[in-house]
Amino acid sequence: MQTIMIAAMAKNRIIGHKNQIPWKLKEDFQHFKQNTIGHPIIMGRNTFNSLKAPLPNREHIILTRYPIDGFLCFESMKEALDYCKIKDYEKAFLIGGAKVYEEGLNYSDTILLTQIEKEFNGDTKFPPFNKSNWKLIEMEKAYSEENDFYYTFNTFQKNND
Ligand SMILES: NC(=O)c1ccc[n+]([C@@H]2O[C@H](COP(=O)([O-])OP(=O)(O)OC[C@H]3O[C@@H](n4cnc5c(N)ncnc54)[C@H](OP(=O)(O)O)[C@@H]3O)[C@@H](O)[C@H]2O)c1
Repeated sequence: MQTIMIAAMAKNRIIGHKNQIPWKLKEDFQHFKQNTIGHPIIMGRNTFNSLKAPLPNREHIILTRYPIDGFLCFESMKEALDYCKIKDYEKAFLIGGAKVYEEGLNYSDTILLTQIEKEFNGDTKFPPFNKSNWKLIEMEKAYSEENDFYYTFNTFQKNND
């Protein structure tokens, strides 16, 4: 099973503020949807709380010590990923937030990272990761007229050596 982290971060590594994403980039929502549709999405409790409603056609898995009625919850990332393997999923996505990304670096083989070329105020950052452990295999740069900033869809793959 492929384990993929998917995130969007600003130039100053900010990913969130007051439990929301501080920008609205529709192209990134589409990118997120295209990639995750049909696959399980694993998230921390705060990220789950930030959703207005569950996202269609994706099994939601929440990491928390306090079970949430009606949702599949696990107390550890390993248990959540083991569940996905048992279910025979081809891919599992770690969709945030910072706590999940931090631990997820150890479990993932791929990072889909949208880099926004603008700084934002925020309280949550994407964790630093050692670029020598990861290889940038794809890069697609574009400009958002609505937002007046450039952004890049990056794909990093973990080095096996
Ligand atoms: N830009 C992006 O791509 C992006 C994506 C997602 C989220 N975000 C933003 O990120 C922020 C939220 O991030 P966050 O770091 O505050 O919270 P988070 O990672 O979403 O949730 C943290 C909580 O999840 C549980 N948890 C996390 N990792 C766990 C693990 N490995 N095992 C067991 N439980 C675990 C714990 O909950 P309990 O205390 O309940 O045990 C922990 O307090 C928000 O601002 C959100 O909008 C941004």
